[in-house]
Amino acid sequence: MAYQFDNIAAHYDRMNRLMTFGLDRRWRKRAVRGLHGNVLDVACGTGDMVVELEKHNCTVTGVDLSEVMLSIARQKLTHSSVSRSAAASSPNLGEQRDSMTVSASSPSKLEGVAAQRADGGVCLQKADAEHLPFEDNTFDAVTCAFGVRNFLHLEQGLSEMLRVLKPEGRIVILELATPDSKFVRPLYNLYTKHIIPWLGSRIAGSREAYTYLHESIERFPKGDDFLKIILNSQFSILSCHQRQLTFGVCRLYWINKEAAVPGRPLCHINPKTIAKVRPFPKPHNTQ
Ligand SMILES: C[S@@+](CC[C@H](N)C(=O)[O-])C[C@H]1O[C@@H](n2cnc3c(N)ncnc32)[C@H](O)[C@@H]1O
Repeated sequence: MAYQFDNIAAHYDRMNRLMTFGLDRRWRKRAVRGLHGNVLDVACGTGDMVVELEKHNCTVTGVDLSEVMLSIARQKLTHSSVSRSAAASSPNLGEQRDSMTVSASSPSKLEGVAAQRADGGVCLQKADAEHLPFEDNTFDAVTCAFGVRNFLHLEQGLSEMLRVLKPEGRIVILELATPDSKFVRPLYNLYTKHIIPWLGSRIAGSREAYTYLHESIERFPKGDDFLKIILNSQFSILSCHQRQLTFGVCRLYWINKEAAVPGRPLCHINPKTIAKVRPFPKPHNTQ
């Protein structure tokens, strides 16, 4: 999987802008609304979510399997407007970002987070979402944009995201989906099955990677089916909601972790939460 992303990394951002007509940026902006504090972005890729989170003054840790995607993220962050202003007071910021990068096999689980806190910037590191190198209950929020669909073991990745999330914290997931509407779906299928792979071969030099995109979206559970998988994790969840964006071609999911109850371990299954799967109630509650 990482190898596949290594191959398309150089053209990844351009392809995203083209094939979504720039909507991917709007979707990310929507996803980070209301987030604050110490945030982990899982499968951060070329760092677009990290940039959005930085704009919200979050302290961000980004992890990804692909070293090439990460190196593009590092360059982008060094050149982002937020980074530029930080660079004014710290001319060696680029160097510091590199030095903050720790490998997934780092002996100290909190090494990356500690480095980030000391510097007050962003920490990007190579790590597998299915084995996150952080202690339990570390982050105020965990985000993942267009990443969960690529996990080898979805449940394992989701459980890890919940494990490192603090009690009362929030997971925000953005993922592509096939639209429900019978009017939109034929157009969508034509576009994702034929036009996107053609664009992929012309622009990114990989028809295969963009054929995989269509296939993986088709296969991936969406809506309540996806939320049910999350609710089956070994963690207690207070509530979860979803929202369709742009005719449902993108879905936004919020998962709120329960508060810690003294004397009760956080890791347990709460069967009542299954009943809480429902569409997100009203936009003004979304933060
Ligand atoms: C479609 S890209 C999304 C990148 C970015 N989040 C964005 O908003 O554009 C998917 C990313 O997931 C990463 N990925 C896939 N499986 C992963 C895993 N198990 N652990 C960490 N990263 C993973 C890939 O390397 C790739 O960078």
